[in-house]
Amino acid sequence: MTSAHDAAWVLAALAASVLHTGDRLPEPLAGVLAAAGLTDPGDGGQRLKAGLIRNPDHGAVVQAGIELLLRQAVQASAGTRDWAAQPDEVMLAVGRLTGSGASLVAATAGGLEGLAARLRSPGAAILDVGTGVGELAAGLAALFPSAHVTGLDVLPRALAHASHTADRHGVAGRVHLRRQDVATLVDVEAYDLAWLPTRFVPAAAVEVALPRLLVALRPGGWLLASVARSAQDDLGRAVRTWQLALTGGAPWTADEVADRLTTAGFDRVEVHAPVEGEGSPGVGTPVLVAGRRGTPSAVAPA
Ligand SMILES: C[S@@+](CC[C@H](N)C(=O)[O-])C[C@H]1O[C@@H](n2cnc3c(N)ncnc32)[C@H](O)[C@@H]1O
Repeated sequence: MTSAHDAAWVLAALAASVLHTGDRLPEPLAGVLAAAGLTDPGDGGQRLKAGLIRNPDHGAVVQAGIELLLRQAVQASAGTRDWAAQPDEVMLAVGRLTGSGASLVAATAGGLEGLAARLRSPGAAILDVGTGVGELAAGLAALFPSAHVTGLDVLPRALAHASHTADRHGVAGRVHLRRQDVATLVDVEAYDLAWLPTRFVPAAAVEVALPRLLVALRPGGWLLASVARSAQDDLGRAVRTWQLALTGGAPWTADEVADRLTTAGFDRVEVHAPVEGEGSPGVGTPVLVAGRRGTPSAVAPA
């Protein structure tokens, strides 16, 4: 077994080297990664193993993901338990990573009946639950220039960052931030798309929020719930369980979330598992569960 000291430094070396996929890796990082079995010898030097970074175009996202893992691991080692206690640099690192999810949301929206057209129409509206430092909200506002994005969060400190994020992306006029627990949502027929990261919001809040989110959607609008991808081995499952205990997120699988959406009254409930590799090792591309608020014509006459 690798010592804890060496394992932490291998991860740090991977983060530092991840953008060098096409070139010779610089020493002494190359030496560390070669000794860990993560490189292949190439012309004139070591390169990261083929397939280690599944899509080299996402190197920056992978790098952000590893940086985030290291920061969160430091917090976990000190016993830090919830979002409110996370220091700003962890919140900002989470934001940098989840902001890259805007293209994933857009790609998934393209496969959900009517949603892409709605999001490009004047008056389009998106709800971003657990907006954090607002990177996803700003990313969605940038991708959908007709849309207004409402970001909800319970943490004033996160919302203060989110306000700066929207300014920095030049979308402040279309990003509206609100301090609110999603469990108290009372909006009616207000949104075409609602984003709900179940792995970051407590299960009790999600249970109460689902019927409220249904009412908050416009008829024909969609909820997209993100769920942590299931781990493949015992260590991965144990790590995932600990991460969820630390973040307080709902511990459900995609199928369990799908059942809850159906029970809450969503129709057309579908599970989408985007190709892994757009996220980062250990953080991973989430699985998305979609559910639609039925249109009046879809409701059978009594
Ligand atoms: C991982 S962060 C989201 C990252 C975000 N997409 C970004 O760009 O920074 C999860 C956020 O969910 C918020 N949250 C947790 N429970 C919530 C609830 N019941 N209602 C609203 N926000 C909640 C947390 O305060 C935290 O800021």
